[in-house]
Amino acid sequence: MLRPLNPEIMTYARLGKTNIMVSRIGLGGYNNDEKGVNAHLNAKADPPAYRKTLQYLVDNGVNLFDTAPDYGTEEDFGLVLGTEENRNKVFIITKVSRLVKDLKTGEPFSRQEMEQEFRNGLSESLRNLRTDYVDMLLLHHLNTKGDDPYHNLGYVGPDFDYFKMAYDVINELIREGLVNFKGFTSHYPDTTRDAVVLPGYATETDVAVVKYTITRHFFQGQEPEIWENEAFPVLTQQDVGVIEMKALLSPHSTMNEKMMKVRNDARAFARMKPFLDQGYTPPQAMIKWALSKKAIHTCIVGMPRIHLAEEDLGPVRPSSA
Ligand SMILES: NC(=O)c1ccc[n+]([C@@H]2O[C@H](COP(=O)([O-])OP(=O)(O)OC[C@H]3O[C@@H](n4cnc5c(N)ncnc54)[C@H](OP(=O)(O)O)[C@@H]3O)[C@@H](O)[C@H]2O)c1
Repeated sequence: MLRPLNPEIMTYARLGKTNIMVSRIGLGGYNNDEKGVNAHLNAKADPPAYRKTLQYLVDNGVNLFDTAPDYGTEEDFGLVLGTEENRNKVFIITKVSRLVKDLKTGEPFSRQEMEQEFRNGLSESLRNLRTDYVDMLLLHHLNTKGDDPYHNLGYVGPDFDYFKMAYDVINELIREGLVNFKGFTSHYPDTTRDAVVLPGYATETDVAVVKYTITRHFFQGQEPEIWENEAFPVLTQQDVGVIEMKALLSPHSTMNEKMMKVRNDARAFARMKPFLDQGYTPPQAMIKWALSKKAIHTCIVGMPRIHLAEEDLGPVRPSSA
């Protein structure tokens, strides 16, 4: 259980059936994009500044921290969040390999190979994170669509075979006390919906991390209404915790470029305008819009520096509720 919360400085929401109260904004640990236009701000460019930001977030009531083995931030998380002082204040999420088959042979993993892959990955993550358990382990990419064969590998497979196998493996890790909760990340509403109503597995997902963004003009995005109509009702009905990701349209462009995208998309700008009119800045308005949806409990945002975190926490301070 997480304790203590800081309701004077942060708002919290119950993360679905986990029953954990999480801050309405969490830190997204993917911030190692060395090609990004603001690459000087990323986690790798100045690790001490990044770690100071992690501590700033803890001190400001943020208790949700998301990373993955390939984000390059697990060790920073470990150094700050894995300490005796901080570990019981935070909910740490990491992920397991998105591979369900051997890339060299193209052969699907057997149950045994998948288990080995997950156990190896989790051991490494626990070492990096300086902890003996993670609060949640996610399947990285329930499904992705596209031409890149690496990213085409998802857990859906034929008849959700890999998904079932992966959940069965994670259940063992949960029984062993290495993991508390499980779920998946997803870029698509249709497979998200199908996963949470899958016979035999309909009650298995604790949390879904979804790419629900204000404009569809971003990385194979869909109009947000598709999520609202296809996936959110079943997520709510199954009491799945819902975490929104990429509210700020990723670290690949400047905020001005992102605003151009939004302004050129009349529907997206109409979604954002009421929040701009209330005096929120563009990033705050995007966060506020996502959190205005009842199905979404919290969002994870890449906040690699304190000045960005200060701005992004604005809309979730109690004074802004
Ligand atoms: N599982 C998955 O499929 C998956 C995929 C992607 C992401 N995620 C998770 O979701 C999290 C969020 O996604 P993300 O980090 O890619 O993108 P994001 O949260 O949409 O964008 C974060 C970026 O926005 C910029 N930013 C943040 N605050 C700002 C502010 N106040 N003003 C101006 N710019 C600001 C920063 O970019 P600059 O540094 O360039 O300024 C920051 O890196 C990830 O960190 C990760 O934890 C999961």
